[in-house]
Amino acid sequence: MISVNHDERAQQQFVLALNQYVQGTLAEGSRRICEQRVQPELEIGTLRTNADRQRLRQRMEQEELHRFWLNLMQTWQDQLWTCVGECVDRQLGDLTAQCLPRNNDLGSLTLNPKLELPAYQAAVDNHSLPGGYHTEVCADDVRQGAIYAQSANVYLLGRTGVRHDYRGQTLMAHVLERFPDREPAKLLDLGCLVGASTFAYGEQFPQAEIHAVDTSAPALRFAHGQAEARGLRVHFAQQDAEHLDYADQSFDWVVSHALLHETSRAAVQQIFRECFRVLKPGGIMAHIEIPARTEIMSCWEYLRSSYEAFYNQEPFWNGLTEIDLAGLAREAGFADAAQGFQQTTADGRAGKPGFINIADGKMDLSNWFVMSARRPVS
Ligand SMILES: C[S@@+](CC[C@H](N)C(=O)[O-])C[C@H]1O[C@@H](n2cnc3c(N)ncnc32)[C@H](O)[C@@H]1O
Repeated sequence: MISVNHDERAQQQFVLALNQYVQGTLAEGSRRICEQRVQPELEIGTLRTNADRQRLRQRMEQEELHRFWLNLMQTWQDQLWTCVGECVDRQLGDLTAQCLPRNNDLGSLTLNPKLELPAYQAAVDNHSLPGGYHTEVCADDVRQGAIYAQSANVYLLGRTGVRHDYRGQTLMAHVLERFPDREPAKLLDLGCLVGASTFAYGEQFPQAEIHAVDTSAPALRFAHGQAEARGLRVHFAQQDAEHLDYADQSFDWVVSHALLHETSRAAVQQIFRECFRVLKPGGIMAHIEIPARTEIMSCWEYLRSSYEAFYNQEPFWNGLTEIDLAGLAREAGFADAAQGFQQTTADGRAGKPGFINIADGKMDLSNWFVMSARRPVS
């Protein structure tokens, strides 16, 4: 939907090149300082305690190259939001008009302007995007959704799929691997943003009734416009995943993709209780998250990962890297809870086994962290 003209493409490609330099060459320099100088000096081999993590971070921040890396990480991120924001603003009127709901729509869009944002969303601009997910600048605004969609096109370079649906395909593959007897007739996606993962289910389960919620109206409007443009029937609604509007025992699957790390521990517990409530007996809850776990992180990987928590307005990022999601699912009443890494797939129905133990996971996009569980039948 978003058009990119010559100059905008040049700006966006510059930001991508900056990103690759910062995350490649500069990061490599910082990694060497960490492993060859700072770790031996502090006598830290692996990260066992919070005190170790703090000592490592504070000591590394005395290193000029590491500070330069931290600074440029913020710079490229800011530049991305600025240049993509300008590109979206040039065509905001058209984008807004294209996304307006119409009488012959396949799916639906239900907004709730009175929805109160959870504190963990109201307090920060996630990923340092000015205005976060929710700010609206005009009637029927899609701006923040369009910025997220185009930014992913710029910096992910297809690593999550041309349509950014690998998270959806990978979680689908995981659930079908673990629970092959339960294909969904009715599915709910929590924290859908612009629907990139949701659409994977719409395409792979064309007979299923697909619902998706988010708290962000601009994201949901953009998602709905995209679904209509792609001929996919999805029912989008502005709801808080902690307090859903759906009736008890409504869904066969409830899924989320990169939602939980943007919430809090108490919110994860409450979301699991809501999943339990809205799932039919025997229904499946499954969540896919960033592939970062403290169990497998080297010191440098911890520094890279925790950049998001300390500098990029992702306060629960570190919390999620060590949380026991399967344990919390059991506490919420679920059975058969298991967590680990799922190898990334472009086709959720390809049927290859890809679920591996946490210890065998990698801190890259070749796999994602997953947890799934079943609501007991009785
Ligand atoms: C990283 S994005 C998710 C990306 C998306 N699921 C995908 O795979 O493309 C996180 C989303 O979760 C939403 N979110 C955070 N807390 C939420 C909550 N309590 N209820 C509903 N949505 C929430 C945010 O508004 C944001 O759109």
